[in-house]
Amino acid sequence: MALTRQTPADRNGHGAAEHGHTAADDDVSKRLLESAATLSYDPMTEIDWDAPLPEEHYGLNPEWSTLYGTRLWDEMTEPQRVALTRHEVCSIMNTGIWFEMILQQMVLRDQYLKNPANAEFQFALTEIADECRHSIMFARACQKMGVPAYRPNKVIAQAGRAFKALAKGELAYGGILVAEEVLDVMQRDWMRGENVLEIVRGSSRIHVVEESRHMKFARQEIRERVRHAGPARRRASATGIAIGAYVIVSSMVHPGVYKAVGLDVARALDEVKGNEHRKAMMRNSSRHLMAFLAETGLITSRSAAIYRRVHML
Ligand SMILES: [Fe+2]
Ligand SMILES: [Fe+2]
Repeated sequence: MALTRQTPADRNGHGAAEHGHTAADDDVSKRLLESAATLSYDPMTEIDWDAPLPEEHYGLNPEWSTLYGTRLWDEMTEPQRVALTRHEVCSIMNTGIWFEMILQQMVLRDQYLKNPANAEFQFALTEIADECRHSIMFARACQKMGVPAYRPNKVIAQAGRAFKALAKGELAYGGILVAEEVLDVMQRDWMRGENVLEIVRGSSRIHVVEESRHMKFARQEIRERVRHAGPARRRASATGIAIGAYVIVSSMVHPGVYKAVGLDVARALDEVKGNEHRKAMMRNSSRHLMAFLAETGLITSRSAAIYRRVHML
């Protein structure tokens, strides 16, 4: 494999540059490490976990509810809407925990026996530590809201198991970036929502700050991995990332949330499917991600068709 520049790690024989990682690439990780040292949070002390939850506060901004803008939403009582948004946010947080576990394993596998002196190695482990705190934070928030765990169905759960054991390079980091970008856009609204529960606002604030570094890291890793990838590999990765995005987006909100607030599940799913407001929100929140994937050659006609099915394009 062609190397653009040799790093001290290569000269030491650690083989840290097997994916074309250069000294210039390592500077990105160095800056991310410095940023992590100045601005990181401990959610256990940062959030007031004992404060009571005001009855009228939503779990997420109503505009982010899957039913907002539908006839069914208009028919619902206000307490029902509040309850629905709490179940929805917990379902998304559970998807977050599920994905953070996949991510931690992929990043750990990727860094296996790489040179610990590299900033890339050190930031990767910093990211794993962040995700560990995030998952506990989401778990605490759901527990506080009294919403039981929503899990992906058996087929999707098994697919996730395979993905976390096998995905590598731009496919692994592409999957990571998709999940982080989609959550980021929603959480920027949640943290500002004055009618949103304080534990959701606080946990979103922490997540947005720390994830902005993770997204920079994922983008950098993707750029490095596709730098020397041929067209066949790029096409295969583009499809793989799109399938990952499809799975993440379609399993974000569990159908059980509608049943939990006393709605007819079949009708609710039907209304969600035709919800134009929801589709516009999804397209808007994916704009930045789609631009990056296009720039790195990871949008193909096949992957674009998959993104369109989940209204990310
Ligand atoms: Fe996270
Ligand atoms: Fe992350």
